[in-house]
Amino acid sequence: MASAAELKVKPAEIEPIDMSRKELYAEDRWQEPFRKLRKHAPIQWVPESDFGPYWSVSTYKPIQHIEALPKLFSSHWEKGGIAISGNPEIFEKYNMREPMFIAMDPPQHTGPRRAVAPSFGPSEVAEMKAEVQQRTAELLDSLPIGETFDWVPKVSIELTTGMLAKLFDFPWEERHKLTEWSDYGGDVELIKNPDTIEVRLAKMQEMGAAFAALWQQRIANPGKDLVSVMLQSEAMKDMPPEEFIGNLILLIVGGNDTTRNSMSAYAYGLSKFPEERAKLEADPSLIPNAVQELIRWQTPLSHMRRTVTEDTDMFGPLMKKDDMVVMWYLSANRDEEVFEDGEAIKVDRPNARRHLSFGYGIHRCVGARVAELQLNTLLEEMAKRRLRVNVVGEPVRVPACFVHGYKSLPVQLSHY
Ligand code: HEM
Repeated sequence: MASAAELKVKPAEIEPIDMSRKELYAEDRWQEPFRKLRKHAPIQWVPESDFGPYWSVSTYKPIQHIEALPKLFSSHWEKGGIAISGNPEIFEKYNMREPMFIAMDPPQHTGPRRAVAPSFGPSEVAEMKAEVQQRTAELLDSLPIGETFDWVPKVSIELTTGMLAKLFDFPWEERHKLTEWSDYGGDVELIKNPDTIEVRLAKMQEMGAAFAALWQQRIANPGKDLVSVMLQSEAMKDMPPEEFIGNLILLIVGGNDTTRNSMSAYAYGLSKFPEERAKLEADPSLIPNAVQELIRWQTPLSHMRRTVTEDTDMFGPLMKKDDMVVMWYLSANRDEEVFEDGEAIKVDRPNARRHLSFGYGIHRCVGARVAELQLNTLLEEMAKRRLRVNVVGEPVRVPACFVHGYKSLPVQLSHY
């Protein structure tokens, strides 16, 4: 741990910049304001935003410290949870509950995390390889060469949702529902007005009912899938149904648009940096590092949020109990003190793995290895076929400050 003096950041030197505005992401204009914030106001109080006032944290070190202190900086859903849209008053008004371990603090967080983590261990994930490889290969072999198609639904969504459906043994023909629910679950913009809150609530209820049915079915008929494993685990076997289902939802939503947008970043990012693409095509042993670099560069979740549990001035300014703290991973992953020329993709970047895209500390992404497996496999199978993705039009981006990604991306495939 750093000393108290080392933790202090310089006081904000500029007027507040609200980085929660969706147009910054829809129009891909977040780079410059974040650069300014890192330089002049690494921790800044933003008194007004559509989501309420918040502390905006945009550099690497303070984010690591905040994540290392879960007692002081809570993830609990009753306090507001993990996204900027979490609002205890709205949660109460609409009776919205999010009992999932990503939105819990120790000791509640510990049991379910321990129950789920072994299913994502190195050997467990290695066992998934053959299946992922086969599905990826079949999909790539079905794609047209030299014709324009949308990479997002055809490749990113299909592969990611397929993986989750397999992991949970979710009915294959209905797997597109996982994508839809995940999109509604992760859309922070929907919380802004009562009409869209209602729509989101209805979708979440539909999802809850489907997972409740899955849960019932696996109690009656256990298999080898993750739902069955969770049901048989010490920590989760006696868990109240609502919490069990909350954790199921977490796994499916958590692994969905994140992995999907990393796959789209592969197509889009390497098209933007053709010299780096050439390097990767010439040397496929760079694939594992390139995967980390793409996850860093994209940062599929722009932020995670915490809530202060008692007054603290550990960073200099006084953060008060119940204040919202927004940790901008997207900015930290471009912090000049950690990543040289962070706006650029460098497939051989020596410290690509240091990115914060998976978070840090006790909540660090439990599914990271599964995401890496899927991305590594996609890049390997593309390399085996000497296939290249050429972006042939501008992407449509997700207009929000939480999920950082692409709605569509027109591409053509060619051979090299
Ligand atoms: C590139 C893909 C992914 C990214 C960028 C990502 C990102 C994240 C982030 C930022 C966190 C929160 C960390 C924190 O609060 O410190 C997290 C937690 C989590 N992720 Fe992922 N994730 C990805 C893939 C997946 C996959 C494939 C799964 C599961 C199938 C998954 C399941 C989870 C779960 C269950 C948690 C909660 C962990 C906890 O609270 O202890 N994620 N992820």
